[in-house]
Amino acid sequence: MSQINTRIVLASRPHGEPTAENFRVEQAPLPVPGPGQVLLRNRWLSLDPYMRGRMDEGPSYSPPVAIGAVMEGRTVAEVVESNHTGLADGDLVLAPAGGWQSYTVADASALDRKLDPAAGVAPSTALGVYGMPGFTAYAGLHEIGRPRAGETLVVAAASGPVGATVVQLAKMQDVRAVAIAGGQEKCRYLREELGADAVIDHRADDFAEQLRAAVPDGIDVYFENVGGKVFDAVLPLLNDFARIPVCGTIATYNRRGELPPGPDRLPALMNQILRQRLTVRGFIQRDFIKLYPQFLREMGEWLRAGRIRYREDVVEGLQNAPQALIGLLQGRNFGKLLVKLD
Ligand SMILES: NC(=O)c1ccc[n+]([C@@H]2O[C@H](COP(=O)([O-])OP(=O)(O)OC[C@H]3O[C@@H](n4cnc5c(N)ncnc54)[C@H](OP(=O)(O)O)[C@@H]3O)[C@@H](O)[C@H]2O)c1
Repeated sequence: MSQINTRIVLASRPHGEPTAENFRVEQAPLPVPGPGQVLLRNRWLSLDPYMRGRMDEGPSYSPPVAIGAVMEGRTVAEVVESNHTGLADGDLVLAPAGGWQSYTVADASALDRKLDPAAGVAPSTALGVYGMPGFTAYAGLHEIGRPRAGETLVVAAASGPVGATVVQLAKMQDVRAVAIAGGQEKCRYLREELGADAVIDHRADDFAEQLRAAVPDGIDVYFENVGGKVFDAVLPLLNDFARIPVCGTIATYNRRGELPPGPDRLPALMNQILRQRLTVRGFIQRDFIKLYPQFLREMGEWLRAGRIRYREDVVEGLQNAPQALIGLLQGRNFGKLLVKLD
């Protein structure tokens, strides 16, 4: 076991798109676990869109990462030293605050769960379809989207772990699923491998026209992952009583707080929400944490039975995490973005 902890800290706050200079690689001594704690060696690090928000100062649903602090992130990690009777060396765990570093110390009680590599589900999925992003899709659909058989659902960022799970859960309920993604490869995957009923590339010049043609009966559920021009194209196509779980607005993460150019469209939007009796509800997955045990049970069965499929985009080496996160915000990842630690 190395005696050095390699970690990536936030060096400065980005203005617009993050750059490599916003991050710094550091070496530190190995942390020492106290009573009830474990020393963990991180094996897989999850990279997620929310991390861009943590790099900014200002109000959010979670505090920002401080300058000089280790970047936040969930990890799948191996116990290398344990001061807790329930965990032994070699156990694999899901660590909600493992961070962008090779080792971390955690309270055993703060770990999400122990992972069983022999249970028929790959441990890395605990960071994707069988973890926070998959649960986000499950909870947002269950509690807010509430699609009914025969209705039409639209979701963007559809090849990522949230969107791809939304598409497949919708199909399991006989809902017509229209998927939006960037580029031919992602679109092909959604149509041919995940069974989306229609697929549209948001980079196409006639994107809004294609979307209109793909939803002849209008839109009953719009699972909002993106915002921006996708939301603009969706708005005129919504049916009365449509539900919009507002999960993310990744198109705006690099310019949070900025107003777009053009006239103020807020009064028209409010009027549409009223006139069409729309449900627009923002949520953070942990709002629905009561559903988590049910999610783990059901998703575990679906994954083992091959009813839910997933795709991972694996980057090798902690030092490549900054570029990978920058790429995610530009749509360069294809599937759940993970860093495999050396
Ligand atoms: N509320 C919650 O609790 C919660 C929890 C987890 C995730 N989320 C949100 O869920 C969304 C999806 O997360 P994920 O982990 O599944 O990410 P992801 O899909 O793996 O990665 C983000 C994807 O967003 C798309 N994208 C980026 N910029 C875009 C733009 N300007 N216009 C359209 N699409 C753009 C890209 O795909 P394309 O190439 O297809 O455009 C990119 O690959 C994010 O908004 C995230 O913040 C919310």
